[in-house]
Amino acid sequence: MNRASISVFPVKILGEVDPRIYGHFIEHLGRCIYGGIWDTEKDTLNENVISSIMDLKPPVIRWPGGCFSDNYHWMDGVGPVDERPTRDNMPWSLLGPEYGPSETNRFGTDEFIDFCRRVGAEPYINVNVGSGTPEEAANWVEYCNGSHNSRFGSLRAKYGHLRKHSVKYWGIGNELYGPWETGHMSAEEYAEKFIEYHDAMKSVDPEIELVAVGADQRFPNWTRTVLQRAGKYIDYLSIHFYFTGIFPEEGGGEIREDIKSYQRIIASSFLLQEILKWVRETINSIMGNNNKIKIAVDEWNLWWDTKQLLSANYSLRDGLWAASVLNKFIKMANVVKMANIAQLVNTIGIIQTMDGNVFHTATYEVIKLYRENTQDYAISAEVSSPKFSFEPLGILKEKREVPCLDCSATISKDGKRLTVFLVNFNHKDELPIELEVPRLRTYQKILIKEINAPDIHSKNNFQKKEINQKQREFTQLPEKIEYNLPAHSISAIIVTKD
Ligand code: AHR
Ligand code: AHR
Repeated sequence: MNRASISVFPVKILGEVDPRIYGHFIEHLGRCIYGGIWDTEKDTLNENVISSIMDLKPPVIRWPGGCFSDNYHWMDGVGPVDERPTRDNMPWSLLGPEYGPSETNRFGTDEFIDFCRRVGAEPYINVNVGSGTPEEAANWVEYCNGSHNSRFGSLRAKYGHLRKHSVKYWGIGNELYGPWETGHMSAEEYAEKFIEYHDAMKSVDPEIELVAVGADQRFPNWTRTVLQRAGKYIDYLSIHFYFTGIFPEEGGGEIREDIKSYQRIIASSFLLQEILKWVRETINSIMGNNNKIKIAVDEWNLWWDTKQLLSANYSLRDGLWAASVLNKFIKMANVVKMANIAQLVNTIGIIQTMDGNVFHTATYEVIKLYRENTQDYAISAEVSSPKFSFEPLGILKEKREVPCLDCSATISKDGKRLTVFLVNFNHKDELPIELEVPRLRTYQKILIKEINAPDIHSKNNFQKKEINQKQREFTQLPEKIEYNLPAHSISAIIVTKD
């Protein structure tokens, strides 16, 4: 049997891990907000869902879209509830009323902020560039962050929020490189708009941080041009990563419950690594090596069918993929400073609800495991592992090989806690491993937390829970850790000195 070995190097620090890589995203789409986060019958937050969200300790939540944000006018969603207008949900009503139900504006800025405070997350607002203006966006900043004597801050106070909302993160438009986006424009136009929005919004609150629309290699000139023209005003460059993609040429619809699809899905997390490297190199080549631009992967998930916008159920396979994606974010901790899984509830959601019932998908369990056990700094880990090869799909063009074992490692600031995340992609066999941590005997305890299920296609649903977490503890510390990683499992190995 093939064996894998891992050596971690606590002194080789790759970067500080930003907890915001475990961020989330909610959009006015399907039942994400109305019927998900918001109980439309009781006209209040849905308590079942809130407790599931709180358990994830969400550091940051992006809202109101997505594509919706380039159609949203924030003034519709503030003030007395019965005076708020009802609008068509654009663009999602184009897919039908289940995707884009009439927008009552019941959940607006103040409700979003209350929700974020309730679950302990920083709000991240995405403003409308596609059909809005810099002035409208600047007024929104003033509504949130202005003093209660300012024009829009006084409106906030009048509507019951004397205290500032203090929203730090602001996204300027969404996916405007894409022909599907309202207000789709050239990179040159976007760069110009970005500067106008920057000037207007920062003149209201110079402390805010701005996220610019970036794109991967499919739109290479977009990112280059935006950086060349507006780079010095950008705090974060946004990248979206969906595999396989919903369009047929991207492999949309082609995902099945078979091994071929499984291998393609897993391999795509390694494609993300290439995308992030390309983005980082592009930023550095244009802005210089000491630039301050950070990457925000502010939408990422598996998505291959529009129906998943209504409800989705992510299986253990998808959880293995998510773990592998999170390993990539950790390894690139020095540049990836925010990431928001798309989305939080129902709509390609890691939490699913129906008629007051809630269940957590495998991806939810994986994000929770990572969120709870990641330490402060990413450190280097060398892995030698058997590999598997796969046939390409969609945006993955070439046949390639990927390791069966995927890993990331982190250490706490005081050096007392070290976590190694290990993913065994092998769908049928366990994988013997040897894990070397320098001076392992000076630690006091090893804790192994493992997520697994009977099969890669196992899922939770409203009736049953197939995705399980096991925990084991060892206080007799060996020279190195040797054991068999179960087939298709995700483990956090935590060694502690306290
Ligand atoms: O998350 C669903 C949609 O995917 C978002 O609205 C958009 O930004 C992306 O295309
Ligand atoms: O996957 C289809 C489209 O491609 C999504 O809307 C967009 O986010 C992606 O770039």
